[in-house]
Amino acid sequence: MPTETNPTWWKEMSVYQIWPRSFADGNNDGIGDLHGVLEKLDYIKALGVDAIWFSPLYPSPNRDYGYDCADYKGIHPEYGDLELFKRVLDGAHARGMKVIMDLVINHTSDEHEWFKLSKEQPDSQYHDYYYWRKGRKPGGKKPPNNWLSVFEGKAWEYNKDLDEYYLHVFAKGQPDLNMSNPKVREEVKSILRFWLEMGVDGFREDVITYIAKREGLPNGFPLPIGTGLEHYTSLPAVKDYLREFKEVLDEYGAFTVGEAPMMTPKLAKEYITDEAGNLLSLMFHFQHMEADCFLIDWVGLPFSLKKLKKAFSTWQREMAGVGWNALYMENHDHPRIVNRYGSLKYREASAKMLAASYILQSGTPFVYQGQEIGMTNTKLDRLDQFKDVITFNNYNLFKKLGFSEERFVKLANRRSRENARTPVQWSGGRNGGFSEAEPWFPVNPNYPEINVEAAEADANSILHWYRALLQFRKENPLVIYGSYQEHYKSSRSLFVYSREYEGKKLLVICAFGDKPVQFCAPKGFDLTQGRQVLGNYAPPETQSNCFVTRPWECRVYLWE
Ligand code: NOJ
Repeated sequence: MPTETNPTWWKEMSVYQIWPRSFADGNNDGIGDLHGVLEKLDYIKALGVDAIWFSPLYPSPNRDYGYDCADYKGIHPEYGDLELFKRVLDGAHARGMKVIMDLVINHTSDEHEWFKLSKEQPDSQYHDYYYWRKGRKPGGKKPPNNWLSVFEGKAWEYNKDLDEYYLHVFAKGQPDLNMSNPKVREEVKSILRFWLEMGVDGFREDVITYIAKREGLPNGFPLPIGTGLEHYTSLPAVKDYLREFKEVLDEYGAFTVGEAPMMTPKLAKEYITDEAGNLLSLMFHFQHMEADCFLIDWVGLPFSLKKLKKAFSTWQREMAGVGWNALYMENHDHPRIVNRYGSLKYREASAKMLAASYILQSGTPFVYQGQEIGMTNTKLDRLDQFKDVITFNNYNLFKKLGFSEERFVKLANRRSRENARTPVQWSGGRNGGFSEAEPWFPVNPNYPEINVEAAEADANSILHWYRALLQFRKENPLVIYGSYQEHYKSSRSLFVYSREYEGKKLLVICAFGDKPVQFCAPKGFDLTQGRQVLGNYAPPETQSNCFVTRPWECRVYLWE
């Protein structure tokens, strides 16, 4: 595979994602905030990352915890204010870290001023900021089309006063913006300028491939979930809009990563290559997150390493020399990876192995808060302890399939994204050191064992492993710019890949599973001649070219 020839700062960086509500509570009201972030900047820097991506910090009624934005140019009072944000921004910059904001422009909150005006003053320009439509029958008896919301029942909500419906592809409190309206696009550009002028370095663009809707909003192919998707996913106009936004972004040399459900490498090339005009720097696809489920986390399947490897290697191959990968295994939308692709019994070994399995690939790695200490899924006992709109929507769906509340809670403990939203476990102290006050969401009961303080004190911890990995990546252009090659392709328990660059070679050996597996170095790689640079077990006294793996073992060898 060709070697990367076009170095850029965002290809070299690694990123830490903060979901602010659960990161660190600096003012002790039980909710994470920017005071907490300010206190933890040194910790984040010490991890070895070069940027922070903030999930939404904007004022929001929190129906989707910030992904329902009520003011794009403000900071949620629960998190602080613009002045405090500026201090965080300056603090990050002073430490050599960039700051990336979440940009949620497919929809606003229903409490955003624009939406309120669109409803209260239907003759104003704001009415056309959204998709207000007459129903197919009067009086709210039949919505304008058959689309289903991704989060809550039908995609249309009826307003009696107007005798019109508004479109919400996500929750009812998240009305879709009408991006075909040039005035809306002007608003977006003004939002971009606002943050870029302040010094922000880029944006993570929420469900960016959904921002264009098919003209006429025709009925979708009827499906049990997702009806209408074909009429609002990756339509050609998305690119026109991105091209327009890019003019502003380019003035500031800003970075962008677009979140893109159902994205394929072929389609991604229409956005993130030179040929496509680099409409986005990177794209978050989901294919490697589907190795233990069918399309969505809630439809669970047994973990398939082959599926995972196929997704990894396909993207590595397809992006080589033309695009650039966004590498991640966790974020605020998925259960914890150790529970999914690793092992609780071998938590430390598997968390480390999983980290090396993706961070040393070609691309820009992202690490989600708590991932670096191997946080795991939580255990809630009752439905009323959950908070997320998706959990409740799924409860309604699973109830129809005959699930009792008790059975559903067990499922949610495995499959809900809320597992990633428990407060970060900073210490073994009260509330895991997250807050002096009762946290807004229960701390995972395993905090006395799994926490940052304990990890700092243990030289063999997952935290130190992440630091070593990110440091190694930073010091070795081979990891950033080298070519990628997969080995042992048909193995159901080994994921092995190599990287090559300017005469240097790297081999990453990842054993998925408790069972010992015989491994022999692939042709062209002599372990006795290489140097083992990383390993989650003590290295052998003498290296040989073959060895039997230990549970969830990972070894990395370098030839230079
Ligand atoms: C993707 C975000 O990551 C997720 O958290 C959110 O619920 C949806 N987009 C809707 O904005």
